[in-house]
Amino acid sequence: MKDEVYRYNDLDPAVEARVDALLARMTLAEKIGQLVQTTPFVMPDPDEMQRVIEQAQQTGQPVQFMQRLRPGLEDRIRAGGIGSIFGINDGATINALQRLAVEESRLGIPLIVGNDVIHGFRTIFPIPLAESCTWNPALLERAARAAAEEASACGTDWIFAPMVDIARDGRWGRIAEGAGEDPFLGAAMARARVRGFQAGGLRSGRRVAACPKHYVGYGAAEAGRDYNTVDISERTLRDVYLPPFKAAFDAGAGSVMSAFNEIAGIPATINPLTLRTILRDEWSWPGMVVSDYEAVAELIQHGVAADLKEAGRLSILAGLDMEMVSTAFADHLAELVAEGAVPESRVEEAARRVLRLKVRLGLFERPYTDETLPAHLILCEEFRSLALEVARQSMVLLKNAGNLLPLAQGGRRLAVVGPLADARQDMLGTWAFFGRAEDAETVLDALRLRLPEDAIFHAAGCPIVGDGPADIAGAVAATQAADVIIAVVGESANMSGEARSRMHLGLPSRQQALMDALTATGKPLVVVLMSGRPLVIPRLAEQADALLVAWHAGIRAGSAVADLLFGAVSPSGKLTTSWPAAEGQIPVYYAHKNTGRPMTGAGALQFAEPFKSRYIDGPNEPLFPFGFGLSYTTFAYRDLRVETPIIGPEDILVVSATIENTGLRPAEEVVQLYVRDLVGSVTRPVKELKGFRRMALQPGEAQVVRFEVPAHDLGFHGPDMKYVVEPGAFAVWIGPNSVEGLEGRFEVR
Ligand code: NOJ
Repeated sequence: MKDEVYRYNDLDPAVEARVDALLARMTLAEKIGQLVQTTPFVMPDPDEMQRVIEQAQQTGQPVQFMQRLRPGLEDRIRAGGIGSIFGINDGATINALQRLAVEESRLGIPLIVGNDVIHGFRTIFPIPLAESCTWNPALLERAARAAAEEASACGTDWIFAPMVDIARDGRWGRIAEGAGEDPFLGAAMARARVRGFQAGGLRSGRRVAACPKHYVGYGAAEAGRDYNTVDISERTLRDVYLPPFKAAFDAGAGSVMSAFNEIAGIPATINPLTLRTILRDEWSWPGMVVSDYEAVAELIQHGVAADLKEAGRLSILAGLDMEMVSTAFADHLAELVAEGAVPESRVEEAARRVLRLKVRLGLFERPYTDETLPAHLILCEEFRSLALEVARQSMVLLKNAGNLLPLAQGGRRLAVVGPLADARQDMLGTWAFFGRAEDAETVLDALRLRLPEDAIFHAAGCPIVGDGPADIAGAVAATQAADVIIAVVGESANMSGEARSRMHLGLPSRQQALMDALTATGKPLVVVLMSGRPLVIPRLAEQADALLVAWHAGIRAGSAVADLLFGAVSPSGKLTTSWPAAEGQIPVYYAHKNTGRPMTGAGALQFAEPFKSRYIDGPNEPLFPFGFGLSYTTFAYRDLRVETPIIGPEDILVVSATIENTGLRPAEEVVQLYVRDLVGSVTRPVKELKGFRRMALQPGEAQVVRFEVPAHDLGFHGPDMKYVVEPGAFAVWIGPNSVEGLEGRFEVR
């Protein structure tokens, strides 16, 4: 029973009959009510907001606005005019509102309560980009389940996650919320998270539904600016951006959130290709589509609707089922049906999808949450240790000159400097609504627990962001009596996430000046880099003797960093995005096309020099490639065997290799399998990830890793936009990252 995962998207005749019976009793207004989603509280006015934010900044406490119920909300719920609420986590208020729906509305249809639980509810895990660097779907499934346990105990039925947008542009702040640049890895993570959220047997006795988002292409925003135009080819959409959504649906996700962006001229909220052709005609997916926040009203700004009524008409006709926050459906849908502009059957179809989810969630049987539950569950030891395990596995060691790390725990004095060394709130990262700074450990906390007081010298040196007062000289002074410098630098939590695009991806504020000064001391320099995105850090990478990317690692960030610094565990995370050498390379990703004039070829000789696809002022290659990450041990790869040199389109490719731990420490290695389709009817990427495995190896231990890849996974969308596995020769690699590895060949016949 433990492994049971609820599926909300296959049709069950008993559920359908129940929904039909309900629909038969509903008025048009009640059907429309199911399509309306709102936040229960009104936003404070800007002055109050400013005051609260400032207060939170001063006290280090989370931003907590006074919660004022939306005027008229209760009556609208009683009238059956609201189908869903979100952005609320207090069980008592949720129950009170639910009681109005269940006990005081005519048909007693419960509300479905949504929430953004992006990387943990109160037990905050590393940001999803960091989590993906574990390459450990089984672990992330457990993390998602823990988040669902806490969220469900506090009244959440529906989690607006996983965010499965592929992102190849670090300027985009929301890269923090996803699993990086690769569709195969993204699909694996999407599947794992849906399974975790929708796990059976939650201690609340209730169920949770996942809501993968943002459908679709949101991560391809031009210039990495959030909400910006997306203009990708249909092939790229299908080969790169859609697979994680398909994986989420196959895992049982019964809802999806459509994206803010346009896709080649048509906003995702009303896009017939993505909402109808792909979702319904091709995938026969019966789930429910909710818009993003006010995205229906934003059709006016997009310039495709003249007013809210028109926006509502376009959205419902395109196949959108529920409207988040804006009020086109609530205000205009009845009128649109009366005028014959929208068939009532379409409204009914949308209501059916919402009700189907509610029935399958068991909301009619268990509409209320047990208000006493959170006390036992929230931040329990089990979840806290899981958060620590995920944090350890998510951190990526990018450099370790002279094996400076791990540090011996005794006898060394450390200068723990930099503005993130003791920045509690920033450990949580973006989208940690229900997390609290007081729950988080900083690096300084964790080191202080492990070393005597006089072995640590601490100074912030400068602010994380902005040009507030800096004391770089003070930070340098703090290093004087130290043997090793641990510089904890990077981005604040608030610099990534929604509406947090950056054009300069280096260290903010005066942090680079701080690093220059620390480097000048000549002391061994360990950099612990915290960020919500791949940064552009060629200078810092040069300066650091050791460089550990710790991301925003959640409430156990400090312990995880300390465990890695002292070698209690060996680093094992690997990058899931390429780290550019310069902003001008962006987008830079491993699965690029070869072009007609690749760097590796001769180029065409024009004007006496070879003309190739390259920059005249820098390399093509990123500073750190996709899949890269070091360990405290070394691994040897040998004996690649392509066990199936010729396969048919229905067969399974089998490739194996031996991996040996050739160093002195036990460690885990993420082994990766890539392929290249050498000749296709359309151009193919130079490498594509098709398998990965995390394996634990003792010193001296060797193991054979054997990958089985269905030939079906080797295809792409051909000239006619149909998925095809084409016959021909392929290269295959098994390696430690996207640039190194043992190479073989096979053929599809
Ligand atoms: C807007 C964001 O794009 C989306 O990810 C989130 O779920 C909604 N707001 C609700 O908070």
